[in-house]
Amino acid sequence: MDFETQTIPDSILDKYTKVCTCRSISRKTLKEAIHNGCTSIPQIKEQTRAMTGSCKGKNCASKIVALLKEMDAL
Ligand code: FES
Repeated sequence: MDFETQTIPDSILDKYTKVCTCRSISRKTLKEAIHNGCTSIPQIKEQTRAMTGSCKGKNCASKIVALLKEMDAL
């Protein structure tokens, strides 16, 4: 087995990648919210509580917008 070329599945990366570190919200949770119909920052905020931590989204909002665009939800 060649460990150098082995990649980690996206589902595992999504589960452990915290997009909103203040609230410990994973990319998996955000993707699920988008799949469930969230198409805007206020909807994501209401459903997941992302962007409600101590930085008020200063560190995560741009990543969440990028995720919305990446998933063609905007
Ligand atoms: S990182 Fe999301 S509210 Fe601070």
